[in-house]
Amino acid sequence: PGLNSLMKLNDGRYFGTAASTVHFNDSKWLSVLQDSDMFGSMTPENSQKWEATEPERGVFDFAAADLNVQKAQEAGQMVRCHTLIWYNALPDWITSQTWTNETLIAVMENHIKEVVTHFKGQCYSWDVVNEAVNDDGSYRETIWYNTIGPEYIAMAYNMVAKYDPDAKLYYNDYGIEFINNKTLGAIALVKDLKEKGVKVDGVGIQGHYPVVLAPSYEDQVEVLQRFADLGVEVATTELDVFVEIPEKVEQVEMQTAIYADSVRACVDVPACVGVTVWGFYDPYSWVPGTVPGYGNADLFWANWTAKPAYDAIVNALLPK
Ligand code: G3I
Repeated sequence: PGLNSLMKLNDGRYFGTAASTVHFNDSKWLSVLQDSDMFGSMTPENSQKWEATEPERGVFDFAAADLNVQKAQEAGQMVRCHTLIWYNALPDWITSQTWTNETLIAVMENHIKEVVTHFKGQCYSWDVVNEAVNDDGSYRETIWYNTIGPEYIAMAYNMVAKYDPDAKLYYNDYGIEFINNKTLGAIALVKDLKEKGVKVDGVGIQGHYPVVLAPSYEDQVEVLQRFADLGVEVATTELDVFVEIPEKVEQVEMQTAIYADSVRACVDVPACVGVTVWGFYDPYSWVPGTVPGYGNADLFWANWTAKPAYDAIVNALLPK
């Protein structure tokens, strides 16, 4: 049985992956992506980001995102829609000019209205605000924060709730997988939204781990539970575990344990609904291009052999 089928045995949880449309012409990769025994959920890796969906002001392009979503639907997979309000992947027309509070709110509302309405009924969830907290727990000084103030966060959730009342609205971030100042900041953020009556349904812990800095099983259980205690569901949304290149056996062993621990942590927290890996095939991973000296972060090597991490996840999920 594949990872999703096994995950389903654990109280109906899903096992998902991110997928970029740029690889859709690779038939081997596509057949693994669309194997619903393997993956029950798909997150568009890039196609729903602002620079892709509204490259020019008021000009919307859903071609790539529609293709992304269509491939998931063909396979009977749910879609974690990603992402609306982020500091990154913004088009030049936003970052190259200064905005007033009023004009930027209007830009935000129009974008959310168009994108969320377009995908209405097709998103299990939306990552509404992505990566809004600094390492010290303060708000990240993004164009949204600097222009609109911290209120931009509640505004974004209210807007998305208005245009798709049925999607689950997530806050998604990295570096919040053990208790530290950033995690406490994210907890405070979600608590504040809840107290204001803002609809926020879930927290996504991304899970991009270099082997030497990964959180333990206990850390992950603790953090998932701390967020769940706020009254939201939780998920691991972007798991990948990178090793130093050239690869050393010890680091592959660490990678194996870390993947299994992350999946076990989710399964052991009742509010954790699923785990998504940020890609599954090493040659297509974002890591080598962005994190110099690291790579081989995914579950399949370049020759399509499954890694020990894959078998370790299977073992973690098999009924005891
Ligand atoms: O599509 C353009 C292409 O037209 C252009 O020629 C080329 C030149 O650089 O860039 C292409 O865009 C790239 C895009 O991926 C699509 O491949 C961007 O440069 C590149 O920066 C972008 O990287 C993505 C990154 O987010 C930034 O959006 C990664 O693939 C993606 O894996 C990564 O994913 C993020 C999550 O969304 C949020 N959490 C962290 C995670 C990892 O960084």
